[in-house]
Amino acid sequence: MSVPIRFNAQNTLKSAVGDHGIETTDLDPKAALDALIGFRARVDSGEVGFPNLPLDQNTAKSVERFAADLRGEVESVLLLGIGGSALGPYALDTAIRGPHPVQVDKKRSPRLYVMDNVDPDFVSAFLENLNPKRTAVCLITKSGGTAETLSTFMIVHEWLVKAIGGKKAGRRIVAVTDDRKGDLLAIAKAEKYQTFYIPADVGGRFSVFTPVGLLPAALCGLDIKKLLHGVHDANTASWSRTLETNPAMQSALVHHALDTKRGKKIEVVFAYSAYLWGSAFWYRQLWAESLGKRINRKGEVVHTGQTPVAALGVTDQHSQVQLYVEGPNDKMITFWAVEKPRTDLKIPVTKQFLQYDSCAYLAGKKLSSLFQAERMATEAALTEAQRPNCRWTLPRVDEYYIGAFFQLLEFQTAFCGELYGINAFDQPGVELAKKISNGLMGRKGFEEYAQKVGPKKQMIA
Ligand code: PA5
Repeated sequence: MSVPIRFNAQNTLKSAVGDHGIETTDLDPKAALDALIGFRARVDSGEVGFPNLPLDQNTAKSVERFAADLRGEVESVLLLGIGGSALGPYALDTAIRGPHPVQVDKKRSPRLYVMDNVDPDFVSAFLENLNPKRTAVCLITKSGGTAETLSTFMIVHEWLVKAIGGKKAGRRIVAVTDDRKGDLLAIAKAEKYQTFYIPADVGGRFSVFTPVGLLPAALCGLDIKKLLHGVHDANTASWSRTLETNPAMQSALVHHALDTKRGKKIEVVFAYSAYLWGSAFWYRQLWAESLGKRINRKGEVVHTGQTPVAALGVTDQHSQVQLYVEGPNDKMITFWAVEKPRTDLKIPVTKQFLQYDSCAYLAGKKLSSLFQAERMATEAALTEAQRPNCRWTLPRVDEYYIGAFFQLLEFQTAFCGELYGINAFDQPGVELAKKISNGLMGRKGFEEYAQKVGPKKQMIA
């Protein structure tokens, strides 16, 4: 079945936004087919594995079994991870159960806490607020050696052992890491932690449908079968060689053309759903780290990539929209719209407020109508100001549609990588800073990197 999530790029066309828009001839079907064939070859050769994830039913089943056993014992799941090892689980949880400060889905406990920072104030606050006797720890790092994750792991391990003893702590810590290498793999074996694996051909930011995302989701009571069903349907649509039935490819072509032909170097993702706000941060990493590259596959210096910006509708209408409508015309705006909210509210008809113009026209209307009208108005205002904008529409936000939507966005990113001719699956630009910080912290073998922060070798106690 093809996936019922729609991509609409009408307002990116010249007919809608004048010279800042693209023409249908800019969306080259031959380039699209080449990109699809090129990406398919990478998947078939084993270089890139994310499209194969829905085929792995066994992992999903063992994750579900493990989660079902542990869930009743705990009230909190503390996730230790960063980047691709944290943003996906956070995005899934907030999309399905709601933004963290107001999560209302009491039926599905435990709560998820994502410790993806080493700011000591942040880490201390977590530990003060969680009950170690009722907490499970998901320790996630693909490389197995990320400084942020291993430092918080050692702190949390001590906190847990002090409270419940080493033996019990060992049963409450579950590791997710590469299936072949890395220190976490060795630690998990030595400490006999339950371990789930990330396939070698699935990189961090594409790993949300490996145990990286599935395990916290299952622990928190999300329906991972439904999630993978959506992923599967998005795969079917994304391998379609017919452009009209392949929304991920349509979107890739539009993004690529607006960047390379119209200089839209920034993409604002305008999520008109508070539940999709967390997903915008997951997407921000996917888009930035995959496509922001210095060289192309031929080794030429190209400096590709759009800068992704996350915005929340309607909140950011009163914060960012002035810039988007009247500031530099260097952006494209992508709306994420949802057709049907889970709940709706009617604005009451309250007699004493009807005499006020600002209240009278709102009284009796559905809050969802106002929400939708504001999105439509923002789209219209941007179009009038010749700002190209497009829209993804999800019928609802549930596990099926989230699985499908995220997978479409991963395909869109992979296709765009092919269109730019770059490797969307590496991240050489983050390596140097990692090495320098290792050097500054006194890691053996990294001494020379410490010197990059100044003339003298510097060490941090
Ligand atoms: O997408 C990526 O590869 C990165 O963002 C990683 O996910 C991030 O650096 C964390 O790496 P690791 O999972 O190895 O700790």
